[in-house]
Amino acid sequence: FVLVLCLSAAEDFDWRHNQHSSFYYGTFPTGFSWGAGSSAYQTEGAWDKDGKGLSIWDVFSHKKGKIQQNETGDTSCEGYYKVKDDVTLMKELKLNHYRFSISWPRLIPTGLKSDHINERGLQYYDELLDTLLENDITPIVTLYHWDLPQVLQEKYGGWQNISIISHFNDFANLCFEKFGNRVKYWITFNNPWSVAVEGYETGEHAPGLKLRGTGAYRAAHHIIKAHAKVWHTYDTQWRAKQKGQVGISLSGDWGEPVDITNQKDIEAAERYVQFYLGWFATPIFHGDYPQVMKDFIGRKSAHQGLGTSRLPTFSPQEKSYIKGTCDFLGIGHFTTRYITHKNNLRGSSSYFLDRDLAELVDPRWPDPGSEWLYAVPWGFRRLLNFVKSQYGNPMIFVTENGVSEKTPCTELCDEWRIQYFRDYINEMLKAIRDGVNVRGYTAWSLLDKFEWDEGFTERFGLYYVDFKNKNKARYPKASVQFYKRIISSNGFPN
Ligand code: NOJ
Repeated sequence: FVLVLCLSAAEDFDWRHNQHSSFYYGTFPTGFSWGAGSSAYQTEGAWDKDGKGLSIWDVFSHKKGKIQQNETGDTSCEGYYKVKDDVTLMKELKLNHYRFSISWPRLIPTGLKSDHINERGLQYYDELLDTLLENDITPIVTLYHWDLPQVLQEKYGGWQNISIISHFNDFANLCFEKFGNRVKYWITFNNPWSVAVEGYETGEHAPGLKLRGTGAYRAAHHIIKAHAKVWHTYDTQWRAKQKGQVGISLSGDWGEPVDITNQKDIEAAERYVQFYLGWFATPIFHGDYPQVMKDFIGRKSAHQGLGTSRLPTFSPQEKSYIKGTCDFLGIGHFTTRYITHKNNLRGSSSYFLDRDLAELVDPRWPDPGSEWLYAVPWGFRRLLNFVKSQYGNPMIFVTENGVSEKTPCTELCDEWRIQYFRDYINEMLKAIRDGVNVRGYTAWSLLDKFEWDEGFTERFGLYYVDFKNKNKARYPKASVQFYKRIISSNGFPN
């Protein structure tokens, strides 16, 4: 019986071919950092407490029809009041690091530093940082996880307006000044793809604008410049003293050609990744947008009779200023798509049509209930190898990886999540054996929390949160024990 069990544990399901591929036993390099993550708007609650200003998510989520069941993040997990409790959970997991974000309007209510700085906000992050450090947990801190001060959106158009770059830089500078003695890993932006595309193209996310075919490119352009500016601010003013590092966290889902013998499909799959991860990573590592984006958007723009491309351009000075502004690359990875070529030249202006491709999924891929998140572990290894080959094998932190289940999940028995973590983490180990420079892994997420336009219908947490209970009690799911075992043995020892 024991033998059978061992043998079956040694085999892994290959989601793509419905065959068995081998599970890789081994441990991670010494010093590999294990963590879990969260973000301010998704977990803190206390949306209007202690002098915090409004963010675009506060305003957006209060509009009817924007969020599943018209939920908001007003209280969410009440993380703002539960620093000690939550750090105890992290301790229980034996985490090496915790990734969280700072709410810009909690520190600077209007977004303009010259207006007013909120001391109570500073105190909250002081308490969180101090408690983490007392418990030997390294903070990895994101500056922008989507909660833009509402005033900046209303008055200036948010990421559409170039003026935002200096406001963001002021905010970052304040964070370096106040917290940089304790924070050594800074992430400027979390998943700018979503900010640009879902915030300004499809309008599914705050601020909910549908500026099709232009808004996302303009937002991304300003985000990339803002990232570079903040990196330079740190580099010139703080690095020598604080000895930290500044990176960006990009979301990179993988695109696999439907037909690997068809050159058009191969190119379409590459385009899918270039329009996604490459859109941001290529300027940051190489100084300019991916050639394929320039070609495709330029060609479409000309076809539409526009005098210039809808994709903005960087000046030569900007290119050299942006290039190399990344001490480490954060990767948020969840899923994979099959990609096939599809000519959309006649379509109207749209980021999605610009790519000339169609996305497909394999009906055999397990789907836990979320519309977009299929479990395809091998895609993770491919994506990590892609990053290695395209950007000179940078130092990588996996800043998000995990899976949701649909509510209700009262059983705490998340076998599904255990399987997902096991297989994705194993593929990451294989990528490290391939030579990819991955230094840390962040399970997404520590707690169930507000899942943006999905409200509370998708639960990503290792810990279950009882949102109906005023106390927002946390309960460990089965995956807590599983993840804890991976952490304490640093992988999968034979
Ligand atoms: C990426 C986002 O950064 C994060 O906030 C979100 O919870 C996950 N995707 C899952 O949708």
